[in-house]
Amino acid sequence: MQAYPFYRPRRSRRWKWSRELFAESKLCTNDLIQPFFLLDGKKKEVNIEKMPGIQRYSIDRLFYKLEEIEELKIPLVAIFPCLEDHLKTSNGEEALNEDGLVCSTIREIKKRFPGIGVMADVALDPYTNHGQDGLIDEAGNVINDETVRVLCKQAQIQAEAGADVIAPSDMMDGRILAIRKTLEDLNRTDTLIMSYAAKYASAFYGPFRDAVSSKLGKTASKKTYQMDPRNTDEALREATLDIFEGADMLLVKPGLPYLDIVYRLNAKLDMPIFSYQVSGEYAMLKTAVMQSMLDEKDAVLESLICFKRAGSSGIISYFSMQAAKWILNLEK
Ligand code: PBG
Repeated sequence: MQAYPFYRPRRSRRWKWSRELFAESKLCTNDLIQPFFLLDGKKKEVNIEKMPGIQRYSIDRLFYKLEEIEELKIPLVAIFPCLEDHLKTSNGEEALNEDGLVCSTIREIKKRFPGIGVMADVALDPYTNHGQDGLIDEAGNVINDETVRVLCKQAQIQAEAGADVIAPSDMMDGRILAIRKTLEDLNRTDTLIMSYAAKYASAFYGPFRDAVSSKLGKTASKKTYQMDPRNTDEALREATLDIFEGADMLLVKPGLPYLDIVYRLNAKLDMPIFSYQVSGEYAMLKTAVMQSMLDEKDAVLESLICFKRAGSSGIISYFSMQAAKWILNLEK
């Protein structure tokens, strides 16, 4: 490389066109995945207190949003159910209801919007009255192998309902292999698995638990199955296992505080890595915007391009639809 004054880095930054030309990362609406929270019933659109600007929708209202998703060319939506308390049990049986909220919504979406990819979450926390992602023993410990058996059934009914992507977010050991085998046995050879390979036990999921009305108590934690935020070698082991077990894509979660993990997995593994800008990150940005401390468009688009720069193939973000409108210049 030449030294100053022969090389002046500012030259490439001088004009808008030159900045565009020299940009090393690009964000387009195809990089985005939009999560939705589901409610049973009709004509429901309910605010989520800890996620200002995000609603839970009944299926009829979700359809309006999916029309926008199609226009904005967002390829994939992730769905999460918010169940009434009476449907929550210790073993989360409602997760296996083929006519429950998630499976019936998947069928409806695929009927009306066959071109939109649908990703379904595999984990028991929206269905359990204790809020853990799996079955618990008498001492309250989440039991791995029994849980995996239930998760396979949950994945099975989601795949049979038409889910394109099965996304196990539970962090049980061996679940990717077990789910892949289940899908093979069903001859569902086209169903993708997005493995939450490196999902950390994070404080940034707080608002999400409000959104799905999870019953996880204040003192309970998920630290016996979700990863320790101090670790990164372990993320590499988790991701490597999931690739061998049959994952098609790997997810790192949360998002911005964990970009080093994305970078590291990308450098070592020849697999698409995705990021999840989680509910707490959404809430932080949105609150600062509401207090006029940040400019929403600039801050959100900057946060999203950072994922691409770090090596994420795509981003699950609650800002996806809004960002897509900015990217396509439909909104200022
Ligand atoms: C649960 C699940 C969680 C999220 C996605 N799936 C919460 C948790 O693990 O407690 C968090 C998403 C977010 O915070 O936006 N299986």
